[in-house]
Amino acid sequence: MPRTLDPELRRALAARIRYYNEMGIYDFYRRPVSAHAEEVALPIAVDEEEFATSQNTFEPGEEMSPRKATAVAVPVEENIFEVIALKPEQSVSNPVKALKIIREDLGDCKRCVLHKQGRKQIVFGVGNPKAELMFVGEGPGADEDEKGEPFVGRAGQLLNNMIKAMGIEREQVYIANIVKCRPPGNRTPEREECATCSPFLMRQIAVVKPKVIVALGAVAAKTLLAMNASMMQLRGRFYDFKPAGVRSNDPNWDGCKLAVTYHPAFLLRDPRQKGEAWKDLQMVMKELGMKAPKSNT
Ligand code: URA
Repeated sequence: MPRTLDPELRRALAARIRYYNEMGIYDFYRRPVSAHAEEVALPIAVDEEEFATSQNTFEPGEEMSPRKATAVAVPVEENIFEVIALKPEQSVSNPVKALKIIREDLGDCKRCVLHKQGRKQIVFGVGNPKAELMFVGEGPGADEDEKGEPFVGRAGQLLNNMIKAMGIEREQVYIANIVKCRPPGNRTPEREECATCSPFLMRQIAVVKPKVIVALGAVAAKTLLAMNASMMQLRGRFYDFKPAGVRSNDPNWDGCKLAVTYHPAFLLRDPRQKGEAWKDLQMVMKELGMKAPKSNT
């Protein structure tokens, strides 16, 4: 059962954590849970058991089983234990330089097992460092691993067509993935791999400061939103998104909208869903005040 905190206590805890953050203290540890401590062991309103089981693996394909379809995340605004650390790129106003700092920080990354499972190179991200629109996929495939650029294979060609249909060019948007190394045999990245890699994506997002992010497929959507739900439940609306664990150095950018649509690889397998994906993109275009070229209307 979810356990909730008294709002007053919650506010007081949030203020205390902010105070520690300002002093440069970011890491907090929870005491081991004893029988007596049960009531205070889980101060955030999360059903811990559901979280543990539902977040451990991503199911293949676009739809999750109904049993796992419950949203379990704490909305970002309410996540009082979120750790906001100062990142080196935050003192840099030029986004190209800031992204370079993140790339250098990533280095020859060996933080998760993907580095020793046949990756040729890290696929960082590509596009306009000041893009209003950002696309986030799952992880590089063979073509991306070869070229070092996201979405350059068949799924990439379809993504390019989707972008064109919106009346813009690929170079105008920013494109990245949840994991930056190719999972062997194009398997779905494990939850652990997503959790290890996504902080770098969060930092890229805080630098690019898009107005809208489009999460391509379930892995991107579930990782970015820290939420477990089916594609059917996730699509068709906007979410307020703030990159977890990082803030932009721009006081005018406090997050963006996030929409979920089908992954282009899924659309290649089931082209009947293209119309649905187009509806998602039209919702995004409306939000951004974009008009589709005549041929698509
Ligand atoms: N699929 C993804 O999710 N990302 C890529 O970069 C390519 C295919």
